[in-house]
Amino acid sequence: MSVYSQLYEGKAKILYTTDDPEVLLADFKDDATAFNAQKRGSIIDKGKINCSISSQLFQQLEIYGIKTHYIDSPSPHQMRVKAVKIVPLEVVVRNIAAGSLCQQTGLPTGTILKKPLVEFYYKKDELGDPLLTRDRLFLLELATPEQVETIHNLALQVNEFLRGFWQECGITLVDFKLEFGLDSQQQILLADEISPDTCRLWNTTEADPNLRVMDKDRFRRDLGNVENAYQEVLQRVLKVVENK
Ligand code: C5P
Repeated sequence: MSVYSQLYEGKAKILYTTDDPEVLLADFKDDATAFNAQKRGSIIDKGKINCSISSQLFQQLEIYGIKTHYIDSPSPHQMRVKAVKIVPLEVVVRNIAAGSLCQQTGLPTGTILKKPLVEFYYKKDELGDPLLTRDRLFLLELATPEQVETIHNLALQVNEFLRGFWQECGITLVDFKLEFGLDSQQQILLADEISPDTCRLWNTTEADPNLRVMDKDRFRRDLGNVENAYQEVLQRVLKVVENK
């Protein structure tokens, strides 16, 4: 596979075109950003770790029956993916209250939600990715009602799978963000990444609210030991996959 030009540089990945117009190469960066890039830094080996975790999770999700953009991983920090047109929605699924849900509703952190909450945010950096209502989503024509229905159902299915998978890792899945894309046949594929950058992951056996955090909140909230937490998540994922 020959790599051609850089197509796009995001906060966590660079996308390159390849000799196949249906295939892109995603290069995962060590750069870390938070609060819409107002906080910037770097996490040692984050690119490799997040690419490896995402690759494993996408493969497991494919086995579970969810169609993803994943093709393969030619090197630890690179993933070959199917070219898709990203739907400009950040789809957040929550099982336990944390982060912006608590800030915006007053729910205490750690409140177990009676059923998973699916939220749609407008993927637009200039606007700070605002929370959408369904009517606003349709007003802006970000997706059709059928696509929203499909994405909503897929998000819940992904949650079902991931909750079980992370549980096997000794990790509680608090919440996470997904992105979806349309392939050349207008089929909806799960895209982007699933990693400690995009999920809130709590060490199930750790009661201390700061020590239990194994995700990007360690960077966001200056909790320290960010690299160790990411490495630990990867090791647990590899162990669970190995035993499947
Ligand atoms: O900040 P908030 O509580 O809304 O985040 C919910 C979940 O979505 C968290 O797991 C967070 O890591 C993820 N997220 C993300 N990218 C964003 C916003 C949130 O991965 N731009």
